Amino acid sequence: MRGIAITVLSLATAATTVLAGSKISANRPADPEGQYPRFGACPDPHACIFPPDVSTFLPGAFFDLRVELHAYDKDTSKPTPAAYKEFKTVIRKDRGDWVDINKFFKIKSTPKIENWTFDWVDSIETQFSKFLNNTNKPIEVAVASRAWRKLKITTPGDYEVKVEYGPKKSYSAKYTIVEPKKPKKKAKNVILFISDGTNVGMVTAARALARKHTSGKYEKLLTFEDFDHLGHVITNSIDSLVTDSANSASSYATGHKGTVNVLGVYADSSDDPFDDPKVELLTELIRRRQPKKAIGIVSTAYGQDATPAAWTSHTRRRSTSAEITDQILHGMGNWTNPVVPDVWLAGGAEYFTGSKALNKKNYYDLFKKSGYNVVMDKKSLLGNKKKSDKLLGVFRTGNMDVWFERNLFSNNTVGNKAHPSLNGADALGVDQPGLSDMTLSALEVLKKRGGKDGFFMMSEAASVDKQLHKFDFSRAYAELIELDVTIKNTIKWLKKNGEYEDTLILVTADHSHSYDVYGSVDSNYIMTHDDANDMRNAIGTSSHSGWPGYFDTNGDGFPDNWFPKVVLAAGTNNSPDRHEAFQTSPKGPRSPTVETKEGLYVSNPKDIAGKLGRGIHVESNLPIHEDQGQHSMSDVFMYANGPSADLFKKTYENWEVFFKIAEALDIQRPGKHE
Ligand SMILES: *[C@@H]1O[C@H](CO)[C@@H](O)[C@H](O)[C@H]1NC(C)=O
Ligand SMILES: *[C@@H]1O[C@H](CO)[C@@H](O)[C@H](O)[C@H]1NC(C)=O
Ligand SMILES: *[C@@H]1O[C@H](CO)[C@@H](O)[C@H](O)[C@H]1NC(C)=O
Ligand SMILES: *[C@@H]1O[C@H](CO)[C@@H](O)[C@H](O)[C@H]1NC(C)=O
Ligand SMILES: [Zn+2]
Repeated sequence: MRGIAITVLSLATAATTVLAGSKISANRPADPEGQYPRFGACPDPHACIFPPDVSTFLPGAFFDLRVELHAYDKDTSKPTPAAYKEFKTVIRKDRGDWVDINKFFKIKSTPKIENWTFDWVDSIETQFSKFLNNTNKPIEVAVASRAWRKLKITTPGDYEVKVEYGPKKSYSAKYTIVEPKKPKKKAKNVILFISDGTNVGMVTAARALARKHTSGKYEKLLTFEDFDHLGHVITNSIDSLVTDSANSASSYATGHKGTVNVLGVYADSSDDPFDDPKVELLTELIRRRQPKKAIGIVSTAYGQDATPAAWTSHTRRRSTSAEITDQILHGMGNWTNPVVPDVWLAGGAEYFTGSKALNKKNYYDLFKKSGYNVVMDKKSLLGNKKKSDKLLGVFRTGNMDVWFERNLFSNNTVGNKAHPSLNGADALGVDQPGLSDMTLSALEVLKKRGGKDGFFMMSEAASVDKQLHKFDFSRAYAELIELDVTIKNTIKWLKKNGEYEDTLILVTADHSHSYDVYGSVDSNYIMTHDDANDMRNAIGTSSHSGWPGYFDTNGDGFPDNWFPKVVLAAGTNNSPDRHEAFQTSPKGPRSPTVETKEGLYVSNPKDIAGKLGRGIHVESNLPIHEDQGQHSMSDVFMYANGPSADLFKKTYENWEVFFKIAEALDIQRPGKHE
């Protein structure tokens, strides 16, 4: 094979994207086998470059570059060798001459070398040394590093960054700066709905609950199932098959693969979660290239959670909620324009005021000072008259309550002391807005503020994932059905407001749970028969997998009765130790496991299904420290409707979603001032 022949990556049509993606990888080293690498996306024995090999950028998009050199001895009885003292970093374009990196980016002084160490846990035996009573120690790695901040390359083409270290050693990473294309049909507005942790199995189940069928034929599909285009998104992260919500949302928001727990950065090996090399967010790019466009973030989670935070924040650790709250307003110093969304609606009040807020500052006051109208309950959200003001809605500490507790069992929220003012009062379920209330209220403000420049909104049904983690299937279905009703109401709003033709609507997930249905189950039989084997007979498979008893006769999109006799026999491919009796808990979300004194997780006797061993015993097939169901690897759906929706058909990777949205919005090209 000849050298690295790379043609300019064209994102003009969906057909070329994945092909082009694999072209960049041609002749590059394959990811190695193994669960305990020294460091993710670091195939060289000593050198790492971030962004890593085969990264792709829009022309002019900001990024930080970090080079790390790793010195170590695998024999842990020996002292750690000294860090590398010197190394040289160079870059070339289109296989031309190598140029010193500082010269290329017109940087006057080379960044100083930073040193630190990190522990490389290199095996299962070392990870679980305490459990195994062995004396295995992690390998200490001495790091020398340099970081170049806020770089950009405006000329499309192929670039290669190389680090030369030690005698005659080098490692290089290849980058592609894409050739921007005008969209065939520009989208004035983009609404990205993310149904967290939702796989195709969940969509099928939600349809079975929410839609009428006759002779086995559905009268109607779910609203989003009727969209014009359907694509298939590959969700794995840079160094793990199974992704979390942070790096998957971050891929959508940046066009780069991520590592578990990262938002808007490539993970480096230092302890500091805020020094990792950043990549520019779609929302930051909108602020630079279409500054009058309005931006909205809506979620039923705490708003510092991974999926919403991915659109405002840069951090190695998604759990740095106080800093994430600060970044909503202030970004990362002067790295680039902070996002300062026009609308931000979610839970997570504990990081706005009180002891958990950054430096105990009152962020409600800071948001007010920077022009936000602040609302704290459903009534004031729906009654919002200040539609031309920026809007901050914080409705609860922690995650917002789920649809069940907001609509059916508000009494379960009595005593939660979760009022967003942190005054110790309750945030009752009935006083919290639903996803539809939040999304439509956001649209009112976004339309007013974006005007002819339009808007970008991310709206998340967060608790599909959260309830699936706990095997509370009924609550998970309700969250997904709520999203579908929200989409229906959104389309109605867009049509009424003359925005429908100009709005690209995307409905996707960030990753899967391995949810599926294998039959139906008589939920009464299982509760009234005590023999363990007899309980299993409540499950009807194949020809006995008859329809469940959910009907929507009042046409609100939700089943009228959540407690029918026959329900779906559902499960996932992984579970901690628990019991499953296929019941819906009226007393609040399920808690299927409980921790023992030894730190193991076993079936919770207080869980509705666990009582007296009621239900089918599901033995754990997870590592000993896992107390809940885990995400899974399957690709996720992408439903797309409106201008440029055809970009989202076929199969592609999560990082490519960024480039597709950027093309639809026409923000691929650097502005004149860049
Ligand atoms: C980094 O480590 C090298 C090698 O041990 C040492 O020579 C150098 O002084 C260190 N630099 C800093 C800034 O600590
Ligand atoms: C580790 O030691 C403890 C205490 O002696 C013992 O109970 C346990 O079985 C040992 N674990 C293994 C995996 O050998
Ligand atoms: C960012 O701010 C720092 C300190 O305030 C300053 O030294 C640096 O030059 C600024 N960088 C840019 C790109 O404005
Ligand atoms: C909720 O609690 C109130 C007061 O205890 C009670 O009157 C009401 O019936 C309860 N509602 C439901 C739906 O259980
Ligand atoms: Zn999850």
